[in-house]
Amino acid sequence: MDLAACLNQVINADCLEFLVKLPSNSIDCVLIDSPYCSGGAKSLNSRNKNTTAKYGTDRAVAYHHFVGDGKDQRVWAFWIQSVFRQFERVLKPSSYFFSFIDWRALPALSDTIQLADLAWRGIVVWNKGNQARPFANAFKQQCEFILWGTKGDLPRPLEPTYHYGYIDAPINYVHGNLHPKDKIHSTEKPVKLLNHLLQIVPKGDTPPVVLDCFCGSGSALEAAASLGLAYIGVEKSPEYAQIAQKRMRSILGGVVVSAPLALLRRLHA
Ligand SMILES: C[S@@+](CC[C@H](N)C(=O)[O-])C[C@H]1O[C@@H](n2cnc3c(N)ncnc32)[C@H](O)[C@@H]1O
Repeated sequence: MDLAACLNQVINADCLEFLVKLPSNSIDCVLIDSPYCSGGAKSLNSRNKNTTAKYGTDRAVAYHHFVGDGKDQRVWAFWIQSVFRQFERVLKPSSYFFSFIDWRALPALSDTIQLADLAWRGIVVWNKGNQARPFANAFKQQCEFILWGTKGDLPRPLEPTYHYGYIDAPINYVHGNLHPKDKIHSTEKPVKLLNHLLQIVPKGDTPPVVLDCFCGSGSALEAAASLGLAYIGVEKSPEYAQIAQKRMRSILGGVVVSAPLALLRRLHA
């Protein structure tokens, strides 16, 4: 597959079917937020509930259902392993990957990363804020986690950069944060948070390419474009693929093919 043809595009496809066609050593950063399938310990009926019923309690108008969230944890781990094996192949040496997860599936994800021979380097903590559901006699699960690492060694840019490993990006009513009513995907991530992660990607003469092959509403693609990075978005649900395509068209003003860094920067100035 010609990488240039996919740049700054949202492709409606299954991630694995897409990944196997990508050239080896072609991607500068992977940032994903796969379905967590965290109901894995629950009954088959609760796992297979429509995702709108499972996660869509924060607004009057229902979100579209998204696919792939009904596996138990053993099957999820088996499946995501094939995805990470492809990441190990398509990532360039010394490039970063980021993978969102919650506390229940975190151990399975860290095993997966290591099984794929990628270097697991740490966990960034995302504080989602006080709106998280309370549990009697227990602690709120108000944080999610971003497991990150590299393919091989860390990059060594001429000018080192330094980054915090904890991010406050509450989904709440405070100005500047993602408001529950503005969410267009039930598990949408705030652009501010994704932006923080992608800032570490070293810049080159041509825009580094960020791949999100579970792009949902396109929030990571927006963050990439806002930093002048190129992106490839893949999404299996046709409704969300369309939503992400529309989002990126409105942000980039119709620029849907490979755009030079200068143009992307100008659009976001
Ligand atoms: C957790 S959501 C991502 C939400 C996204 N980060 C956002 O901010 O909108 C995971 C997405 O992956 C998609 N998905 C599930 N299985 C997939 C597959 N095999 N290939 C591509 N996309 C898939 C789902 O439809 C869902 O939209």
